[in-house]
Order: sequence, then C-alpha cells, then structure tokens
Amino acid sequence: MVLLLKTISELRSHVVINRQKHQRQIGLVPTMGALHQGHLSLIKQAIAENDLIIVSIFVNPLQFAPTEDLAEYPRQLDRDLKLCQQLGVDLVFAPNAQEMNSIGDTTVLANTTTVLPPQNMSEVLCGKFRPGFFTGVATIVTKLLNIIQPARVYFGQKDAQQLAIIRRLVTDLNIPVKIVACPIIREASGLALSSRNQYLTVKEKEQAAQIYRSLQQAATAFAQGELNAKVLINLVQQELSLVEGVTIQYVELVDPVNLQSLDQIKHSGLLAIAAYVGSTRLIDNIVLQKRQPIVAIDGPAGAGKSTVTRRVAHKLGLLYLDTGAMYRAVTWLVMESGIAIDDERAIAALIENISLKLTSPNAVNLPTVVHIDEQEVTNAIRTPEVTANVSAIAAQAAVREKLVVMQQQWGEKGGIIAEGRDIGTNVFPDAELKIFLTASVAERARRRWQDLQNQGRNDIDLQQLAQDIKQRDEQDSNRAIAPLKKADDAIELITDNLTIDEVIEKIIDFYEQIN
Ligand code: PAF
Repeated sequence: MVLLLKTISELRSHVVINRQKHQRQIGLVPTMGALHQGHLSLIKQAIAENDLIIVSIFVNPLQFAPTEDLAEYPRQLDRDLKLCQQLGVDLVFAPNAQEMNSIGDTTVLANTTTVLPPQNMSEVLCGKFRPGFFTGVATIVTKLLNIIQPARVYFGQKDAQQLAIIRRLVTDLNIPVKIVACPIIREASGLALSSRNQYLTVKEKEQAAQIYRSLQQAATAFAQGELNAKVLINLVQQELSLVEGVTIQYVELVDPVNLQSLDQIKHSGLLAIAAYVGSTRLIDNIVLQKRQPIVAIDGPAGAGKSTVTRRVAHKLGLLYLDTGAMYRAVTWLVMESGIAIDDERAIAALIENISLKLTSPNAVNLPTVVHIDEQEVTNAIRTPEVTANVSAIAAQAAVREKLVVMQQQWGEKGGIIAEGRDIGTNVFPDAELKIFLTASVAERARRRWQDLQNQGRNDIDLQQLAQDIKQRDEQDSNRAIAPLKKADDAIELITDNLTIDEVIEKIIDFYEQIN
C-alpha cells in the first residue's frame, strides 16, 4: 500500500529510518501531480534503480505568476495515488502550501528565502516570459532535496531548461544527489505528454501535434548537414506558420548545458519551443547532436587514467580507444619484421598502409582486442619484449603522426573514450568532454607505495617515490612530442579524496550532461 504523508516531520522520520537504519537508497520523483505517462516513465526508472521510491506531489505556488493558471492547475490526488500504488511507489509526499513554506508567504517569492539560479540560465527561453518561475522551481527542488536527501532524483527532458538549471544548482550548491534525466514521452501523434494537454480540445490536440512535426523538419535538415541556427529556427517557424491555432512564443537554439544562444551547432544544440495552442501554453524540444560524444581523459602518470577510462567505457558502452595498445601493436610489427627499433625511416614505410582494428573486450578486466592486418595480436603485443621497446617507438614523430591520424579517423564517428597526455589538446581538440584527471604528487606517491606494498615490496621509500613522480611530471610536461597539458576547456578532476567509483560516477555525470 502506498503511504501518503502530508507533513515534513512525518516524512523526515520515515526517510531517516529507511536511509540510516535500513540503508535504503531513496529515489525521488518530484511532480506537481496530474500524473501522465511521462511521469510514470520517471517513476518506473526510479523503481528500477532505488530501494525506496518517493513521489512528491505539490503544485508549487512560487512557480505561478498572478496571471497564470495556479487555481485551475489540475489536482487529482486520488487518481495520482492509485497510479503510484499500481506502479509500486512506497511513499507519496503531498504537503499543502503552508506546510511547504511554514513561515513566509507561500505564494510570493519576495516573502520567502529563495534559491536564485544564474540569470543567464533562468531569464532565457521560458524564463523571459515567466519571470521568477525558475527561482520557484530551484527553491522547491532544493527544499525537497534537503528534506528527503535522496540518492537519485528524476526529471524529464521535456523541461530541458528546468533540467539544465537543476543540474547547475546541484553542482553549484554541492548537493549530494545524482540527477537522472528521462526521455520525452509522446503520444502517437508526436505530441509531448504534459499535464496541460488536458486543457486541449480534440482539434487543438491535432494542431499541437504539429509542434513536434516542425521540430522534426529541423532535425531532418540538421541530419542533412544544416548547422546554422537561423536556418533551423526558420524551418520550425515556417512549418508552424501554416498551422491554424498555433501561436509561437519562442523558438530558440541554445547550448543544452549552459542554455546560451548558438549561431551554429558545433557539437549539440537544444532546439526549444514554446507555443500557445488556443489559450494553452505548451513547450517541447529536441537535442540535435552532431555525433556520439568523444571523451578525452588526460592527466599525469599515476592518476588512475587507464582503470577509470576502461571502466567508464564499459559503463557507457563507448569504445575505449586504447592508444597504448596501438603503439604496442606497431612495436610488435616492427619487431616481427626485423627492422631496427631506431630505424625511423624504415618504420615509417612499414606502417604506411598498416590496418589496425581495436574491439572492446567482453569484460571490463580484459585487454582491448587488437588485430593487425586481420591477425589477432591481443596477447602478442603485451609481452615484456614489446613493453621494453614501446616508449622508443612511441617517441618517433612519424609513428605518432600516423597513429594520431588513425585515432582521429576513429573519432569521426564519435562514441569513443581515450586517455593519455595530449588527447584533449592534440588528438581530439574538439572532444565534447575533456577531463584532466589528476591527484597531488603526495597522493599519487602514496597510492603507488600502497600498490608496491600489496605486491610484497616493503623496501620502497615514500619520499623517493614522490621525488620520482615530480620529476616524471616535469619531463612529461616539457617533452617535445605530445607533452602533458591540460586543455583550456577541460574539467579538472582532482582525485585526492575520491574513490575510483566516485571518480567514475562524476565522469558519467559530466557525460550525461552533454549527452
Ligand atoms: O516539473 C515539475 O513538475 C515541477 O517544476 C517540479 C520539478 C516538480 C518542481 O515543482
């Protein structure tokens, strides 16, 4: 039976018991009720990923301007409770306005403490027409997150601006919760589900379905190579100008993460629209994505790049572009052909038409499967003899040039992750996500020392290890070929106080934000 709670104190005691005593992971789905299939998809995902599911139902007065539909907004608690019950929700939190804001005026932003999102995110798109709306959203979401402290919170991609603002809020205010974004659910006609669709007549529903059709026109043009914002926006406007009963409020193309207006799509763009159908205001959007993202992970030696990259690749289903394996493969070929390791000209000729294939292994702890000219060399390239020569081969300009071009060709399709020293600066300067994974010298020395201890080496001096690491950093940063460098647009991830799982989770969060 789904439990209905209406007060914060009851809710708090319930979640505290479940989180602390029973160690349950809580998944929160915040809603304003009038649940539809879109909400139900969020709830189903929350059920699949958490031990205790809370749905909040609260028509937040702070989100409604005096001229808006607060009083008429659909309220159907009994029906919502039944739906939650059917799906297996544990608890519905449905406070009244007084309970949610026990001191200030429950309807006026100026009379209560509020959370102000960055203006350049909250005063664009819908925010231009609904002043204070996103302050209302940010405030209520912060309150819910503070009261419930869930492990995960679920939002629909349909409210793309809300989603971007909440992601930013959670990052800026260091709120320990994972945001899960769920795709837009549509009717067969293409109309995005919304509680406000209830206001539409049958005829208006048909007209409203054209909103998505117009977005699809732009998506088709984009797929055929159109990247210009004006052209894409015009397509939507033109298409909708032919539809009786639809009045556009805005059509804009913005960066999906920071919501700033784009002239041209570089990697991805959020094409967002708000339109009135009759007197009902509807919103919709699509993300136009140029290719599957490339993730570049750079950083100094000993920062855990390869383990992290391998595991992130496995979790996200990306190809781990194992550049190390590529240099090993060339080294193996050079050794097989009997050419001297330092004969750069002969090596350049040998690899001119080399065919290298990398495939993801079946399990995360297995090495990348490598083929050279159809021959499988996965194990052959990992012998101590190859290891002894790989640095000399990787330092040769011709080898480097050839392999970087090959790596970039792989990159054209996207969907890959690579790690090294210059992936984000040289190999994939246009990677959608760049991480500079690092840790202090002392921490990297401590980790290395611990590894060696675990291998039974008790004779290692921690101070000396730190010295060596510092020296290696200097060499790597100053070498002529592929120097270690943080790209200006890379996110620096300092891992001193993080476990590997936490590092992986952070990278996956960043990836989900750009995806
Ligand atoms: O998306 C909504 O329904 C609301 O904006 C939310 C997130 C529940 C906050 O009131």
